[in-house]
Amino acid sequence: MITDFEKLDAENINNEIIEKAAGILQKGGLVAFPTETVYGLGANGLNAEACRKIYEAKGRPSDNPLILHIGNISQLNSIVSEVPEKAQKVIDAFWPGPVTIVFKKKEIVPDSVSGGLKTVAVRFPSNKISRLIINAAGVPVAAPSANTSGKPSPTKAEHVFHDMNGKIDMIVDGGKCDVGLESTIIDVTGDIPALLRPGAVTKEMLERVIGEISVDPAVYKMLSKDQKPKAPGMKYKHYSPDAEVALVSGDEKNVIDKINTLCDSDSQNGFKTGVLCRTRNADKYRADVVLKAGDDIQTVGARLFDILREFDELKTDKVYSEVFEESGEGMAVMNRLKKAAGHKFIEA
Ligand code: TXA
Ligand code: MG
Repeated sequence: MITDFEKLDAENINNEIIEKAAGILQKGGLVAFPTETVYGLGANGLNAEACRKIYEAKGRPSDNPLILHIGNISQLNSIVSEVPEKAQKVIDAFWPGPVTIVFKKKEIVPDSVSGGLKTVAVRFPSNKISRLIINAAGVPVAAPSANTSGKPSPTKAEHVFHDMNGKIDMIVDGGKCDVGLESTIIDVTGDIPALLRPGAVTKEMLERVIGEISVDPAVYKMLSKDQKPKAPGMKYKHYSPDAEVALVSGDEKNVIDKINTLCDSDSQNGFKTGVLCRTRNADKYRADVVLKAGDDIQTVGARLFDILREFDELKTDKVYSEVFEESGEGMAVMNRLKKAAGHKFIEA
């Protein structure tokens, strides 16, 4: 298959490209497009066959359900059977934006979207290009992150091209994604809302609007074989570069010394080493590749997946990462980093 690659400027929209993308979706094809979180791999969310193609292109396990993206709020009632009061509060406070809400689904939502669950995850993105494409298609658009399953989510069109060229009909390049981490997922179908995946809409922000929230254990730690996360996708190994990643924790000075010692010994053994660190610490490391993640947590979040992919490009063998405080958006950053590292910590 030849993948059509089109650049689109959100400030100067070329409607032909929007119409083309919408036409492909309506005909059951696959289009990757930018959202404010990460690039999505879209298909007509009410067409079971089109959704099955998503799993094939990504190499995604079929029990991992998809998020339905809507382009305007009136689409919500066509796919969910009820909107609980707390869900309405989340909608009022954060939609359109980087939070996905799990609802009880209507019959019309195919099993290949819901993975056989009675619920459906819905997201109303704020990114202009994504909304234009969804609204032009006139259907809810099922869209997982547009990466090969197991790889870091794409935050630039080049990442999508790397993983999906030749496998999908079209890639719409709308530049870099602002947030860079996938949406927060909140399940409001039970008595106490449950945070299934942390993101830029933080637990603290949600609690201000709907009160107490429980956090699914899969957010913090690796689950044992018999434990099931509520978001099926959280059980898979994710975000993993080819390199072996470890997180180094402790006092800042000790962390720097420890990482340098590890890198020295890895180098002696013929390994190419990499470090992911705060920008202000970059000069202090002796690794072959030192990638600056920024100094504030939003910047770290926005750059994280790009950096993980860059370690692959540069063929590093061993990567050591500083750790970040697990509050606010740091919870999402650490959730992704822990997965990238297979939960491997080294105490400095
Ligand atoms: O930011 C995002 O959410 C991006 C962009 C493209 O919108 N999409 C995304 O999709 O990250 P994906 O498929 O990579 O991750 C969706 C997650 C998976 O962990 C999946 O298991 C979970 O959402 N999920 C989907 N439907 C669910 C449901 N009904 N109940 C619980 N979890 C669900
Ligand atoms: Mg994903």
